[in-house]
Amino acid sequence: MSDASPKRRVEPPSATVISTARYSDPTVFEEERKRIFRRSWIFIGFAEQLAQPNDFVTADIAGTSVVVQNFDGALAAFHNVCTHRYSVIQQEPCGNRRLECPYHGWLFNREGVPVGIPGNEKFFGFDRAAKEKLALPRFEVAVRGRFVFVRLEAGGESLDDFLGAYGPLLDDLSAFTNLMSDETQVWQANWKIGVESVLEPYHVDATHPETFKTFIRKQWENSTEREHSRCLTRMSDHSTKWWNGVARALGLQRDERYCDYDHYFIFPNLSIAVTHGALLSVQTYDPVDAEVLRLRFRLLTVPGRKTALRDGAAWTMLSGTVQAFNAQVLSEDRRVSESTHRGSKQVGGKPAVPGLAEDRLFAFHGAYLKRMGAER
Ligand code: FES
Ligand SMILES: [Fe+2]
Repeated sequence: MSDASPKRRVEPPSATVISTARYSDPTVFEEERKRIFRRSWIFIGFAEQLAQPNDFVTADIAGTSVVVQNFDGALAAFHNVCTHRYSVIQQEPCGNRRLECPYHGWLFNREGVPVGIPGNEKFFGFDRAAKEKLALPRFEVAVRGRFVFVRLEAGGESLDDFLGAYGPLLDDLSAFTNLMSDETQVWQANWKIGVESVLEPYHVDATHPETFKTFIRKQWENSTEREHSRCLTRMSDHSTKWWNGVARALGLQRDERYCDYDHYFIFPNLSIAVTHGALLSVQTYDPVDAEVLRLRFRLLTVPGRKTALRDGAAWTMLSGTVQAFNAQVLSEDRRVSESTHRGSKQVGGKPAVPGLAEDRLFAFHGAYLKRMGAER
């Protein structure tokens, strides 16, 4: 597999593009799980989902079921697999219940130790030390603003160091507390192809002629931050006007520092977009296997000044319009991503030929290859 620099007339800053063999090879996929997903801070949800004692969130990271749970105010992350006969413990994506296995009722404490074993004396006779040996493996959990991250393999940089200048950004974006929707789709495409679909505005005219094309102007600025990147795009006059009207009608407490369409990518699979300081889109592209990804997408708004933000015609209109727009854009991105996945398997590993408008792909591929230990 060769990761090569395509020939071009205008040379972008870094011209490394990964081999297309990396989009479908199961061996590469296993390496990605080990070198990228087990070792990275992975976004798993929002702090308010974990605000109360016994609140929990589960996630599948690199084939490992993870639970993050609130124990009397403190968060801890564990392998979500019981150490008795290995049932998954918390079986819902989120909820509120003790860390208790549904099969035989073993109850785990904040250290992950099975302190409540039904019939222990009669059937097992475990003393404290024996129970401690049966503790659930523990993972790192860290929170920035309301964004909760987990890392399976201990060690490496702190979440704040990893985020760099995007740490304060997540603090700012934590003001978007009003959840409008939270959905999941499964795409027949490699996770990197999904990520790449959000990294460039070049596809907008051809892929989104009726939707995104009318939403933005052809003016953007790209930049990188460590392994992450950003694209600031100017919104069209029409969409600015529309958002101003909606914000006024609902009394939305907009963050005016984010007045256009700001898109951020946080390595390896978190996509965040802010629209006119009012709407936040948070997407994760989770690998299922080498050829399948799971996209989870949430839409949130800033709070409104009017007490009953979610009641009334203006909210119904906003929420209906935004969700329909988002669904249409995603179906367009899904179509091109799935077709790119199919096509990429037919070119014998030849790398893609991105142009200057696609320069965030180079940053993504560079960070990816560094993590994978390949030569750049
Ligand atoms: S498998 Fe969990 S209590 Fe038996
Ligand atoms: Fe798109």
